[in-house]
Amino acid sequence: MMKKTKGFARFTLILTLMFMLGSSSVLADVSKQPSLKEIYKDYFDLGVAVNNRTLVTHAEIIKHHFNSITAENEMKPEALQRTARNFDFSSADRMVEFAQENGMKVRGHTLVWHAQTRDWFWRDGRNQLIYEKDEITAEDRALVQRRLEDHIEGVMSHFGDAVYAWDVVNEAVSDGGTIHRPDSPWYMILGDEFMKIAFRKAHEVNPNIILFYNDYNSDHGYKRGRTLQMLQELLDEGVPIHGMGLQGHWSVDGLTIAEIERSIRMYADLGLEIHITEMDVGMTGFTEEEQAERYRQLFEMFKRNSDVITSVTLWGVSDDASWRGDENPLLFGRDHQPKPAFWAIVDTDKPWYVNKAEYTKAAVLKDSTGQAVGELMPGTFNLADLDFDLAEVTALELEKGHLISFYAEENAQGDAVHFVSTKDFDGAAVAAQTKSLVVRAVQADNIALNKPADANFLADRAGRAVDGEPVSSWAPNAEPPYWISIDLEGTYLLSRWAVRLQGTSVLAGQVEESPLNAADFALQVSLDGENWQDVDVVEGNIKSVYDKDLNLVEARYVRLYVTKPTSLDHNQRLGVHELEIYGTPLAD
Ligand code: XIL
Repeated sequence: MMKKTKGFARFTLILTLMFMLGSSSVLADVSKQPSLKEIYKDYFDLGVAVNNRTLVTHAEIIKHHFNSITAENEMKPEALQRTARNFDFSSADRMVEFAQENGMKVRGHTLVWHAQTRDWFWRDGRNQLIYEKDEITAEDRALVQRRLEDHIEGVMSHFGDAVYAWDVVNEAVSDGGTIHRPDSPWYMILGDEFMKIAFRKAHEVNPNIILFYNDYNSDHGYKRGRTLQMLQELLDEGVPIHGMGLQGHWSVDGLTIAEIERSIRMYADLGLEIHITEMDVGMTGFTEEEQAERYRQLFEMFKRNSDVITSVTLWGVSDDASWRGDENPLLFGRDHQPKPAFWAIVDTDKPWYVNKAEYTKAAVLKDSTGQAVGELMPGTFNLADLDFDLAEVTALELEKGHLISFYAEENAQGDAVHFVSTKDFDGAAVAAQTKSLVVRAVQADNIALNKPADANFLADRAGRAVDGEPVSSWAPNAEPPYWISIDLEGTYLLSRWAVRLQGTSVLAGQVEESPLNAADFALQVSLDGENWQDVDVVEGNIKSVYDKDLNLVEARYVRLYVTKPTSLDHNQRLGVHELEIYGTPLAD
């Protein structure tokens, strides 16, 4: 009896430990994350490529964030029909089962491809590769066509409606000058007929299924024209193609969003439904934040085109499970945690770090031993209601782009002091003098835009420096010093400023550096428009865009004060194309 109890106790202890480990590492975390499939449910399905491994190791992320899966390799010809007439559906069936248990759709990838297909498909009765033969006979063609049709029949009839869409043909268009990829055995043996055979057979086997042509770089000008032409010709002949799959193996740089969007509209204009089928955004040479911005812009564009885009699939769950692993192209990192790219697409109208702070925390408050004593979400709090003692706090860690303001009175009333991250915070003093606090994001907009501007020369043209129009400028050419001032029409806490100088103009060649850029200048701030204080003093500048963070300074008016308009002694012409001020309103 005793023994039994002991054994049972140990067993429950192990279970509890397992549960705790599970919950702290993956389970609890994932379930707290905003669900991407929920966020995008009114726009399009959100899919992910899975494989035998990630279906187990990344199951929680897959279930929480996605409502569609694609087998990364397990439904390709080499996986399903390694040798003739020996279909093996075991891995693929597990995926379909997983999807059905979790209410997800399955996109099939892919029936006909030149790659990941065993070459028995293309061998004749004497085991010779047909596409290498000098003369391909009608008999050879009939044999290969039958195998192609048998494969489609075998696979599609096995899955039935469980796989709702298929990439019937993958990557048939050439990267060179012709329409068809010349090195595809299907093309070499059957000519362009192979596309018609494939789509017609697929439609015949199961008319319920949406049939896609899928390819990479189809959004690039070099490949788009011939892809459109090929599809148009097939559609004109009545070949049942319902959708265009854009693989979407992108990078942080490369095509502009406008170019990708234009391509999407061109395929949609053929009457095709659009799926982004294999999305990833390689970040080699860029930061995670730059990758996040690219993801944000792409998803913003997808939403704009959700009348034609019905599905977006990421090609892998996290960077440790990506075919482009070195380029860290996915939404989740090697630790399976959300990257800035994930937070960027949570709400494409906000910076990634604002989304992150709103779902996790915006501030961590630490004591002198480095221990976190409190965490705060964005919002307003009275000190009396905090579940920790502010007097113990000696360091503040704010999420990027956030600040914390302490107010003399409750409910954010009265005088305030403001902080970003600091290891030098006197919690005891602040606690003694204040009654409430606000944690918030620094506003990311340019608050100088279209505000009233004045200047000591060419005052009537001062507005050109704040019109948001990079071409127009305020350009005095007289006796320095020159100044231009802006009334922000309210009190702001300034966090950054930028000035676009002469070198940014088209005439100056839009260079990064130039001696014609203002050399010596200062940014000044004022609360009354009369008493000015320097907040940034610059000497010997040659950069065309000067862009600098500011140490949270309060201002109603800002002034750019230029003492040396160029680096050349004889040239007194200043060119200010845009003066930008970033800050958070304090009046609320
Ligand atoms: C890739 C898989 O991700 C890899 O695991 C595999 O080794 C090669 O194929 N275009 C496609 C996908 O259509 O099938 C490819 O998937 C990536 C490029």
